[in-house]
Amino acid sequence: MDTKLLFQDPASFATPLLAVFAVDIAVGDGEPPSPALLSTSDPLAKAATPWFDSGEFKAALGETLLLHSPSNAKAERLLVIGLGKAKSLSVHEIRKGAGVAVRFAKPRGIYELAIAFPEDRALSDEHMEALPCHHTSRAIAEGTLIADFDIDIYRSDRKDHAIKLASMLVKENDTKSQTEIQAGFDEGVIFGHAQNFARSLVNEPGNVLTPSELGRRTAAMCAEQGLQCEVHSIDKILELKMGALAAVTQGSSEPPALIVMRYEPPTAPPEGSPVLALVGKGITFDTGGISIKPAENMDKMKYDMAGAAAMIGAMQAIAQLKPNVRVMSIVCSCENMPDGKAFKPGDVITAMSGKTIEILNTDAEGRLVLADGLHYAKTLGATHLINAATLTGAISVALGLLNAGLFSNDDETTRHFLDVYPATGEKFWRMPCTDDYREQIRSQIADIMNTGGSRYGGAISAAMFLKEFAGETPWIHLDIAGTAWIDDNKPWQSKGPSGIGVRSIAEWVRSYAV
Ligand code: BES
Ligand code: ZN
Ligand code: ZN
Repeated sequence: MDTKLLFQDPASFATPLLAVFAVDIAVGDGEPPSPALLSTSDPLAKAATPWFDSGEFKAALGETLLLHSPSNAKAERLLVIGLGKAKSLSVHEIRKGAGVAVRFAKPRGIYELAIAFPEDRALSDEHMEALPCHHTSRAIAEGTLIADFDIDIYRSDRKDHAIKLASMLVKENDTKSQTEIQAGFDEGVIFGHAQNFARSLVNEPGNVLTPSELGRRTAAMCAEQGLQCEVHSIDKILELKMGALAAVTQGSSEPPALIVMRYEPPTAPPEGSPVLALVGKGITFDTGGISIKPAENMDKMKYDMAGAAAMIGAMQAIAQLKPNVRVMSIVCSCENMPDGKAFKPGDVITAMSGKTIEILNTDAEGRLVLADGLHYAKTLGATHLINAATLTGAISVALGLLNAGLFSNDDETTRHFLDVYPATGEKFWRMPCTDDYREQIRSQIADIMNTGGSRYGGAISAAMFLKEFAGETPWIHLDIAGTAWIDDNKPWQSKGPSGIGVRSIAEWVRSYAV
């Protein structure tokens, strides 16, 4: 999709489809809806008002009203999109609203559209807080791109082709706001593309996206974006004594990939500045191994590399945003397969850190590959660690499918994350990770065991396992098992890979820029 930002009255722009936003300004529970258009263009207001007055359109979030050939406007169609209550309007509704425009157009064979930048001055102050224009334009760019992603790339009769051009139209504004709107838009384009790149990786089936293929695609992205990238094979994994990653991969005939990306800022940050490490779980297919999973829904385990994809997407965004902070990313990628050579329950393995691990369940493989990834990042000089992983089914039991779990050993590092992530619209919930839970992973046989001794709090046991390998280094773990794949289509987003983490992790990185 090409994206364009134009400072022009939407009514004078020729396009097959012009989307314009409306909100409900009614206050109080009993009040009937009172839609109002977020545009000061007369022709648009004239076209829409009769339908507002008739009560046919209520401006609920995601609601649409299509009008053909609006008088005195150059668009062939006018699409009014509801954003819900004016009082509670935020950039998150705007991001969704932009997505609704795209997902309305695609199945109708409309591949070019324009979105009118919402003008809060169309309403009086009592109805709505002013929207920060930088964030609004960023949300529109993100929402437009995120909505353009579809999962049907292997269908011969694919109908939902990509949108060719999406324009954002901004009527009149002072130069200062224009500069802010442009900057927000440019950032939104970077984030939207990065998130879709991550989603495209997650969407690939396990037979296509093997660990080697993940390595190739990551290396290609890095070459394009000017990031350093090395993709290591089993020889290096064994040389580094990554016994945990080696154990998980040993039952698979696909070679593993240890991917190391590096971002160096244009000007060297002062000595002693943070070095951030983004560590991703890249299991390209998780059968469970010898502790094999049930057949039902096993196909979904191609998304067990969504943590890796989040990091790869975040690195793409970081390369373009150029924050003044050093960043590396370690992706531990392999398959988890049952085989004559596979690792087994009861095995004792030695991780790169030297810790011995008793294997109780080979399906708890994500924490094993991450153990070596986290330790390796520290040996490469990481001062702060963040990892993302589709780690446990238990996180969905704890938090449902809306919030991802956040675990950490450090409040200050967590504060950086909590300060910046809400702007993205992604949802995270901090979970306990205190030492009194360590009991759950104590082994009689080895230093630690790979599943909890108790069936309660499985997501916490997994986090406690990782915490052993983060050690004293400030660390955040994001368990995205419940949020990396969306089961149902939404009016603003296709079902399938969500791309969660890309934007929040990139924002966390930016919060360390000097
Ligand atoms: N990849 C799974 C976790 C998962 C489950 C991701 C559902 C997405 C959706 C992970 O490797 C796993 O199998 N975890 C086990 C751990 C258990 C054996 C302690 C789980 O959650 O059941
Ligand atoms: Zn597993
Ligand atoms: Zn897994």
